[in-house]
Amino acid sequence: MPENRCLQGIWSSPWIFIFAAGGSAVGLGNIWKFPYVLGENGGGAFLMVYCLCLLAVGLPVLIAEVSLGRTVRSNPIDTVNDLSERNLLHSRWVIVPWLAGITGFLILTFYSVISGWSMAYLERAVAGQFAGLDQSSAQSMFDTLLSSPGEMLFWHSLFMFLVILTVGQSVTRGLSTLVRILLPALIIILLFLASYSMLVGNAAEAIDFLFRWSWQDLTFDVVLAAVGHALFSLSVGMGAMFAYGAYMSKRMSIARACAIVVGVDLLVALLAGLVIFPLVFAFQIDVEAGPSLTFVSLPIILGALPAGPFVGAIFFLLLVIAALTSAISMLELFVAWMHEKYYIGRLQAATMLGGAVWFIGIAVLMSFADWDSKLIFGLNGFELLDKFTTLIMLPVVAILLSVLVAWALPRDMLQKELITQQVNHFQWWHNVLKYISIPVMVLITVAGWIGV
Ligand code: PFF
Repeated sequence: MPENRCLQGIWSSPWIFIFAAGGSAVGLGNIWKFPYVLGENGGGAFLMVYCLCLLAVGLPVLIAEVSLGRTVRSNPIDTVNDLSERNLLHSRWVIVPWLAGITGFLILTFYSVISGWSMAYLERAVAGQFAGLDQSSAQSMFDTLLSSPGEMLFWHSLFMFLVILTVGQSVTRGLSTLVRILLPALIIILLFLASYSMLVGNAAEAIDFLFRWSWQDLTFDVVLAAVGHALFSLSVGMGAMFAYGAYMSKRMSIARACAIVVGVDLLVALLAGLVIFPLVFAFQIDVEAGPSLTFVSLPIILGALPAGPFVGAIFFLLLVIAALTSAISMLELFVAWMHEKYYIGRLQAATMLGGAVWFIGIAVLMSFADWDSKLIFGLNGFELLDKFTTLIMLPVVAILLSVLVAWALPRDMLQKELITQQVNHFQWWHNVLKYISIPVMVLITVAGWIGV
């Protein structure tokens, strides 16, 4: 299909796809979620399985999503409908993009609340409030935020307002300028913080915890958490990468672009681990503290730095931007669909969807404010949404999407997307997806559910 058939633009340079997809992948998942999921799942065992999952599951599924997007150059829902009208796919497959869009939508309801925390911490950093913090004062700073629903609501609302404004523009326009500086800047500041943290913290214990392999730590729960987090962190299984693939230039090799995105995503997560864990062990913070881990340990190091308020402000500003570039990709699927199918303006579509996310987000932030309010299975609102999306929806959508691409779709449809003049990536990718990624995802997901 010629490039000018794309409804909403093509990235202005092939590299912009990498920045945009990297901007979607790198976010709170790397800096806030990765350290605490790793902490809760035994450290080195989780890291090792996580790296394997990125290679065996994350990368092939990412390639599948992006290739499908670039082949059809439309939003995922219309694509499946169109293919079924042409008798290339059964119409039932339309459930996949719908589930993907719903997953992204649900994730955004809590993602926005945590992004709001990052904005609140940006304000505290600018005000110089991190100076001289120790473990207990950092913990009480975090507890104060959690017990202030009004403040959380303010930041959550501001964040959603920014998401709506950005996603309301054409993504190819709204993102290009932002992402070009974001990723390099984030990596540089993390490198700097990691070096400092290893210098002042307990580097030996942190490295031991992060990289020590132990068979005893390896359970199905750990493996399920690793698969779920690999999908979450790469933003696959939510249609976000499908939507971005639709704007990708034909000049770029999909396999190479996706491999770079996976590499950058892992690098940022590892750097975040190297910032957080030396402090966690030096200040005897509980590694299993959960969602508070990053927000309690980071201010300690930022407060100890000579140029703390400045570095802290830059760091949290970058974190907020990284969260924003991830958040907008969660709404992109439905916004593009409403725009292309019903000719609703992007801003109007983003306002309707974002308004609904904002509303549900209030329930999430209340579950933090009143931490004891357990709803079902002893989980509060946030835990319920997080576990439901990461451990159930994401693997299910990723499995269905992979089966659709690997088995249901005519093989030659995608073949040409993965064969460039230099290399033929198609065969290995197709085989890995069919015979490794899908069986591994099915096995792990089912075993994790039944608690083997
Ligand atoms: N990958 C993002 C992160 O690690 O923060 C989270 C994310 C983005 C999830 C986009 C889902 C999505 F559609």
